Amino acid sequence: MKKYFVTTPLYYVNAAPHIGHAYTTVAADVLARFRRARGERVHLLTGTDEHGQKIEEAAKAAGRHNLDFCDQTSAKFRELWKHLDISFDDYIRTTEKRHEDKVQELFSRLQKSGDIYKGRYEGLYDVVGESYVKESDAVRGPGGVLLGPESGKPLQRLSEETYFFRLSAYGPRLLEHYRAHPEFLAPASRAPEIARFVSDGLEDISVSRTKVKWGVPVPGDEQHTIYVWFDALINYWSAAGGAQDLWPADVHIVGKEIFRFHAVIWPAMLMAAGLPLPGRVFAHGWWTVEGKKMSKSLGNFVDPYEVTREFGVDAFRYFLLREMPFGNDGDFSTAALKKRYNAELANDLGNLVSRVVNMADSYLGGELPAKAPEGGDACSRRAAARAGDISARVAALDFHGALELIWETIRELNAHVNEQAPWKLAKTDKDKCALVLFDLIHSLRVVAGWIEPFMPRKAAEMQAQLGVRRFPDALTADDVLAGVNSRTGQIQKGPALFPRKE
Ligand code: MSP
Repeated sequence: MKKYFVTTPLYYVNAAPHIGHAYTTVAADVLARFRRARGERVHLLTGTDEHGQKIEEAAKAAGRHNLDFCDQTSAKFRELWKHLDISFDDYIRTTEKRHEDKVQELFSRLQKSGDIYKGRYEGLYDVVGESYVKESDAVRGPGGVLLGPESGKPLQRLSEETYFFRLSAYGPRLLEHYRAHPEFLAPASRAPEIARFVSDGLEDISVSRTKVKWGVPVPGDEQHTIYVWFDALINYWSAAGGAQDLWPADVHIVGKEIFRFHAVIWPAMLMAAGLPLPGRVFAHGWWTVEGKKMSKSLGNFVDPYEVTREFGVDAFRYFLLREMPFGNDGDFSTAALKKRYNAELANDLGNLVSRVVNMADSYLGGELPAKAPEGGDACSRRAAARAGDISARVAALDFHGALELIWETIRELNAHVNEQAPWKLAKTDKDKCALVLFDLIHSLRVVAGWIEPFMPRKAAEMQAQLGVRRFPDALTADDVLAGVNSRTGQIQKGPALFPRKE
């Protein structure tokens, strides 16, 4: 049985990770956790992109040997992923032998098939984006200096012998693939720009450098190193390492600025190599910070550790996926985070859990009735009826939409508590009070199952308070939905899940 295989981009090791990298990686993790919770076998791949001119220059500027420099920054990414509870199954570095061997193998394969041939590149290069830039795309800056259209940084003029990849030959097949697999390019709103780019006609691309030493040598022609993007894209396949149950990837999650590399060049490389194509490439939007693009000159990179120190890991994960639809751009600000934290986490969810747990503790001594309440109007039934829609949204990478549905349920539960007023029932109708609280606890267990992929630590705390026994026989979200409750334990009052921030 094939595993569900989800990937993040391989991040450049020239600088420390920031909120943008955390965004993609948290999204991939939520998807992975969500599918695992539903019993699927999942493989989450992330890692670092370590070759090329940009890294070579960064290492030099830091006065370090290339590999030492890469070791250090790659470790920072890995540590951050541990800190953010990213459940990655593999972490690949492009300087690993398992990867370099596969890059050479694929390069040779394409040379043999005639898809790679030798020529000469005369033109512009953007080191920041590690990309070849057409004269017509360059932007003229002050003093006539040519700047990269994306990076806004001065371009280099290259003139060197190079190997080319025959990308131009794959236009019609790519267009046919997009047509036959409308889910391949996501979100759908970004598909037309790719199709247009391909329809306008593709040019062959340079895939080796002679002036850059820090890279995988071209097999049999060691004057050349393989172009860093050609090298890095292969990671998705090299990491699969020929495992029968992995390739092709189900989804590559990437930022919008590298959509073309993943939606045009990568599938063309795979077509040339006769390998199956990934199921989908999803390009999400970009974060600005307090209204501004993050940049070295502004020094406004958001350090995830700083945010989690103040708000906790789970609230950070929540905010990233809640703030804007996955695919749109958004703005990060401490004020916006604090607002959502207090309103949605501390108030809507945290208070609800404390109130219900405290009442179950006071009025029922923490013991629940053994059987689920009967009757169609139970709020746990209404909650459970949303499960299908929530699943469908996460499956479509609509994390924002899924959280919206979950919070609709949470708001309904809050309203239900106020309407039923169990604190009054405790004095007038003890049986009804027990049923209402049971129903609420039951509903919150369902909610805890839903939020686990987004906020694994808080979900576990919540489940402990709600008497969901995780070990040795954990109660799954599906058990809860099916009304299985005999294996649950005592209600345990605990500290506030999200203490208010003043
Ligand atoms: N090394 C290449 C990717 C190779 S994949 C085979 C690269 N690396 S990167 O370090 O620049 O990371 C880019 C990715 O980081 C983006 O595609 C996106 O996933 C994430 N982000 C970086 N900055 C971002 C924002 N400001 N906002 C959202 N995500 C951004 O490109």
